[in-house]
Amino acid sequence: MARLAKRKSPSREFHTVREQNKVDSGIFDDKTMMALSKFYNKGVIEQLIFPVARGKEADVYLAKAGASEEVSGKSYVIVKFFRIETSSFFKMADYMVGDPRFTKIGRSKLAIVKTWCKKEFGNLHIAKSAGVNAPMPYMFNGSIIAMEFIGADDGTVSPQLKDAKLENPEVFLDNILYQMRLLYKSNLVHADLSEFNILVKEAQPYIIDFGQAVSIKHPNAIKFLERDVTMVLGYFSKKYGVKRSPREVYDNIIK
Ligand SMILES: Nc1ncnc2c1ncn2[C@@H]1O[C@H](COP(=O)(O)OP(=O)(O)OP(=O)(O)O)[C@@H](O)[C@H]1O
Ligand SMILES: [Mg+2]
Repeated sequence: MARLAKRKSPSREFHTVREQNKVDSGIFDDKTMMALSKFYNKGVIEQLIFPVARGKEADVYLAKAGASEEVSGKSYVIVKFFRIETSSFFKMADYMVGDPRFTKIGRSKLAIVKTWCKKEFGNLHIAKSAGVNAPMPYMFNGSIIAMEFIGADDGTVSPQLKDAKLENPEVFLDNILYQMRLLYKSNLVHADLSEFNILVKEAQPYIIDFGQAVSIKHPNAIKFLERDVTMVLGYFSKKYGVKRSPREVYDNIIK
């Protein structure tokens, strides 16, 4: 009996969150449910609505915004759940080892993914403070981040650049390059920029997916920035016939 009484039982918080959203409990494991409960309790989200995307590293959900001050005036919130089991361990290490902000990363898969999540949250903060068009980060806990929803008032997610038809590609490209410059000035390089990680809302680019973004002090920062430039220019050249010199563009970003 004594042994039974001592056994750790799930907290009240845990039961409450299950009640709050029965759908979630069929999808997420207990650890994720526990981490998610904090988002409900803090009033950042009220309910998960539906999955928006299954990326390589994460599952992204649209949620109804809660009553917290952080999300006041917002109808929706994006919740990004990083996958622990299928996330690419070695890739993550490549973008953290050498970044002076992350000297202690941890050894387990869970620890690495948690650091990655914290890193995306911190990177989003830096980007927003620099004036970059990016989602406002609201909170993170465990391997989950809540951030600003980039989309329409009716909950429709803004399309990725790859699926958008731009009216004025020259101007749009200039705007992306300006965002890259702002980011560089705030000492960050995105390091996975492409038509997949840029959303188009009201003819403006919004940069997303900052988990891999590195400090400009990272040993591969130059290589990553060159690759970002190549990806963006390659896309505009192929899809819209807009040609720019990669060297000039690169120099302009770092000047
Ligand atoms: N803040 C946001 N607002 C609206 N939609 C978003 C937001 N963040 C992510 N999404 C949607 O979810 C998709 C996946 O997000 P993200 O790129 O951050 O995750 P990922 O798992 O790293 O993806 P991938 O590995 O495919 O690059 C995006 O392409 C976009 O459609
Ligand atoms: Mg992505």
